[in-house]
Amino acid sequence: MNYRHAFHAGNFADVLKHVVLARILAYLGRKDGAWRVIDTHAGAGLYDLAGEEAERTGEWRQGVGAVFEATLAPEVETLLAPWKASVAAANPQGGLRHYPGSPLVALSLARPQDRLLFCETEPGIRAALAEAVKGDARAKVLATDGWQALSAYVPPKERRGVVLVDPPFEQPGEFQRLADGLISAHARWQGGVLCAWYPIKDIRAVDAFRREITRAGIPKTLRVELDIYATRQPDRLSGCGMVVVNPPFTLADEMRTVLTALAPLLAADGKGRVRVGWLMPER
Ligand SMILES: C[S@@+](CC[C@H](N)C(=O)[O-])C[C@H]1O[C@@H](n2cnc3c(N)ncnc32)[C@H](O)[C@@H]1O
Repeated sequence: MNYRHAFHAGNFADVLKHVVLARILAYLGRKDGAWRVIDTHAGAGLYDLAGEEAERTGEWRQGVGAVFEATLAPEVETLLAPWKASVAAANPQGGLRHYPGSPLVALSLARPQDRLLFCETEPGIRAALAEAVKGDARAKVLATDGWQALSAYVPPKERRGVVLVDPPFEQPGEFQRLADGLISAHARWQGGVLCAWYPIKDIRAVDAFRREITRAGIPKTLRVELDIYATRQPDRLSGCGMVVVNPPFTLADEMRTVLTALAPLLAADGKGRVRVGWLMPER
């Protein structure tokens, strides 16, 4: 296992994933009832954009860097506000030196009654995550395998909340595991918001994944995708997507608005292609 998210922190894929997560949590926060986040592949929690790994790829510059430099329409700024607040919270001195991963995005939107469970199997990364959330009793960091956590901790006792499955896609069969994991998590928790991130690289694998999810007939399954290259190459990340089961009813329109505005900033060709639509609508 040698995946290190630090190379990619704050890139276009993180922006898409974390804006989706922040929009969902902002929506859940409208009601007082406690929610729980289960982040099965949590990463380090906080990334130094001036660190060696982030600097080596510079991917964040055409991700969070481009978004923070841009002047955006007021309605887009309003939708981005919860995610932008989490980035600001990671930079108490101002500026854009650090980037919050999914655990810190979620934690920045958590209220006193909310709880967060983070799984990370790589010991060094887990230690960094534990340090990043240290002192916050709402958050628990576990060494549990994320796929096992998906069975063991779903549904959570709060019966409100979000599962984020964001594996590194380093091993063969990861798309199949993702489909199986989502389908069985939904069978156990039909009301949960289940989010899965995936790379768009091997388009046949992506199509097979989408078909499998569609065939499972899970109602209210949204897909949100962004391509940053006009042409696909099997060895290059040309885009990414998320499947969201039981999204807030507002999410599809919100993500259409946000991604239409951000695509020209995030895309390598200055255009980008956005797809937001239902794999399976409400029954
Ligand atoms: C894509 S990164 C996570 C990024 C994070 N979700 C975010 O958005 O900031 C995937 C992480 O999963 C970890 N990982 C790999 N296999 C795992 C497993 N079976 N269970 C839990 N974590 C795993 C890797 O060490 C890596 O840190």
